[in-house]
Amino acid sequence: MPHLRSLPLILIAAVLSHAVWGQVAPVAESRPAPVPNPADLRAAMELNYPDIRPETRQRPDTPWQVRVAFGSPSTTSLMVTWQVQREVAGSLVEYGPSPTLGLKAPAKRVVYKSQTGVTYEAALDQLLPATAIFYRVGTPGAWSETFTATTAPKSNEPFVFTAFGDHGVLDPAPQNLAAITRDNPAFHVLLGDVSYANGFQPFWDKWFDMMEPFASRIPVMAAIGNHEYEKDIGPMTYVGRFSFPEDELQYTFDYGNVRFVVVNTVLGLPAPQLAWLEAALAKARADQVGWLIVCQHFPLFGTTAGRGFNRPLIVREAAVLEKYRVDLVLAGHDHVYERSFPILGGKPVSQERERYRKGVAPIHVIAGGGGAGLYKFAPRPSSLNAIRELTHARLRVTVRAEGPLEVEAIRLDGSTLDHFEIAP
Ligand SMILES: [Fe+2]
Ligand SMILES: [Fe+2]
Repeated sequence: MPHLRSLPLILIAAVLSHAVWGQVAPVAESRPAPVPNPADLRAAMELNYPDIRPETRQRPDTPWQVRVAFGSPSTTSLMVTWQVQREVAGSLVEYGPSPTLGLKAPAKRVVYKSQTGVTYEAALDQLLPATAIFYRVGTPGAWSETFTATTAPKSNEPFVFTAFGDHGVLDPAPQNLAAITRDNPAFHVLLGDVSYANGFQPFWDKWFDMMEPFASRIPVMAAIGNHEYEKDIGPMTYVGRFSFPEDELQYTFDYGNVRFVVVNTVLGLPAPQLAWLEAALAKARADQVGWLIVCQHFPLFGTTAGRGFNRPLIVREAAVLEKYRVDLVLAGHDHVYERSFPILGGKPVSQERERYRKGVAPIHVIAGGGGAGLYKFAPRPSSLNAIRELTHARLRVTVRAEGPLEVEAIRLDGSTLDHFEIAP
């Protein structure tokens, strides 16, 4: 009975085979997979992605995740937001033009579903333009350290801002954060897909904790991405944890001679949002701004594999951007770097690589290499592409009082991958 003699070997082989392949080969299950306990899930995630600055967790009443954004108007208002692990009555911001502070702004508690702690925000209003403000947040006995942040100038002053989208907390996101920290910009624009929490709130804590040394002194202004529309709660976390002008999903702010129009493209620009965009661009032109820059998450003319152009968005938005001769359209979402020639009616109006003239046509930049995993390009670029490269990078934009607007895309190793100028 040879088949009986070989049975133990068959059994051992079966067990070994399952041990080796069980993790990759699906095994038929007669019962539904158990739903993971949220506490187990959190413990597993904490184990795999430990706190970036673990010392900040050791002070339950002391604020952490401190960040600033421009209020409205950016020249005289800053919004400060932070988190504590439990409610602290009487939370406030002490601030002033010197380290002795002297002024007080009461904090408002922000409440939203699934919060991991208690969030506070406070508006510092009636500040002076282009002025450094010293501030600390919390309560007597549990203050943050004292930070400084600076309001926007009213006049036409030179400055640098940085931008990227699709950041996250995992490598190389911290490297790109270190790079913009070295740039020391006037502010940073996040082009959506911020923490990749996807509803798992501790990831937001990690992202804001990672950002604190930067964002407590340099305003961070974001355009909402699809990953900020979280399961069951939509953009609630984004609106709760950030503090931006207007309805926070779409807003404008000025810095020097530049008007930034931040638009929510995640829902495909339905009529009210498109009308808002058109009105914001018309107002910018009526206000005779020097430069007009639109910031959004979804790009129009991407060339990644499987995605390509966003044709519904092109149909809705391209003509509006062109009508008002937007200078730059900054987007993320595609985890690549690519940049168009100036485009009118779906065609490049110049094939010059580095020098353009203002008022001719919008140039579209996709800076989705903030830190999240890179995508793949379709094999061939489009005729609109001035350049494209599969890399993590940041944008550094230099605005002068007079003279050209200068845009650089810089890889993590510090080398320049793209450079162009728009002459006034
Ligand atoms: Fe996205
Ligand atoms: Fe993304």
